[in-house]
Amino acid sequence: MAKTLRQTDDGTARELEYVTDPDEQLEKKPGTRYGAAELGFRHYWYPAFLSRQLGKKPKSVMLLGENLVFVRANGRPYALFDRCVHRGMQLSEGKCWTEGTITCPYHGWTYRLRDGELIAALTDGPESAVVGKKGKGVRSYPVEERNGVIYVYMGDGNPPALEEDVPEELLKPEYVFEAVTSVWNSNWRPAVENGYDASHATYVHRYSLRWRTQFNLPPAWAGKVESQVEGKYLIQRRRGPFGFEANYPGFGLWPRHAWLRKALAKARKKFGPKGTPMIAGVRLPCLIVNHYSYYSHIRYSIPIDAKHTRNFQMLAGRFHGLKALAFRLQYWLWHRWVFHKWFNEGQDKWIVEHLDYSAPEQFFRPDSSIVQLRKYFEKNARTSDPIDGMKE
Ligand code: FES
Ligand SMILES: [Fe+2]
Repeated sequence: MAKTLRQTDDGTARELEYVTDPDEQLEKKPGTRYGAAELGFRHYWYPAFLSRQLGKKPKSVMLLGENLVFVRANGRPYALFDRCVHRGMQLSEGKCWTEGTITCPYHGWTYRLRDGELIAALTDGPESAVVGKKGKGVRSYPVEERNGVIYVYMGDGNPPALEEDVPEELLKPEYVFEAVTSVWNSNWRPAVENGYDASHATYVHRYSLRWRTQFNLPPAWAGKVESQVEGKYLIQRRRGPFGFEANYPGFGLWPRHAWLRKALAKARKKFGPKGTPMIAGVRLPCLIVNHYSYYSHIRYSIPIDAKHTRNFQMLAGRFHGLKALAFRLQYWLWHRWVFHKWFNEGQDKWIVEHLDYSAPEQFFRPDSSIVQLRKYFEKNARTSDPIDGMKE
């Protein structure tokens, strides 16, 4: 096995066994569940919209490769398959003439939002023979609205309780959160993997204002990265020895210009909050969750189609009253721009969109995070569609 030199945080160089055992790699094989899940795992609740994004006007969205139309009626949201069974027109272009129905803009076939039943064909008269006929409705999807988010279940059979799938920070009333949605031009898997990737952050985000100002000195590397399943999450812990700066043979000193980070680290030691370091977790079906000292960052990376991902990023904290207000204010004045927009929507999005996810891979030591993530998805994904040749 190849060896490499590495400098530890006490400044000594040690020879260590290098990188990857090839058997440890989990490739993106089409024969695996994860490899085949180009359009995600269906049997989960997914956020579709923020409540504020949906009114009485029908709205289309593609999720998991399927076109849906959402509309609000009688104060609650509904979702139907966005295709008229008559000639295939998009229902989302239609109108809701009466509360609880949607009418196709082409020939006026009208569906009940609650269950997708065809209840009228306006251009064939009130006695139309197609009404009430089997197979003339469109599929309707279970929808729930909780704390400002609209969730949809697109799997088979009865959905599980929302609490089974959605982090408690988004459901329990003691939390407040703010959110931003966006679309990334990539498959959902590299987007999720990026959020759990143990070695990219100190390089990709090296100049981000977020890290430079959080009174912390993120180590440039860690001796070991471990993952383990804790409840519904796969949790990552970076273990020492940590390196903050080193001379690389043939290259020189890295990171460069570390004086500010060092000064901030000193200041933190003296004045900053003690508390836990950041904890990174991943969770089915497509969630990244990072816990910081007083808030959690939650990112859903939901497949739209094979090449696009819909991201919901939320910052959640356990606050109420004035503190909740202060948290929201801090989000809108700082975290939304510095963290969500610059750090994630800027730097991480850019990386993921420039990655060829179909390329063969060569792993190195920190990629144990990626291997463990893929194993976790492979083993734990809820599905009723076993891949051909795979044993359940
Ligand atoms: S296509 Fe919808 S009514 Fe004809
Ligand atoms: Fe990142």
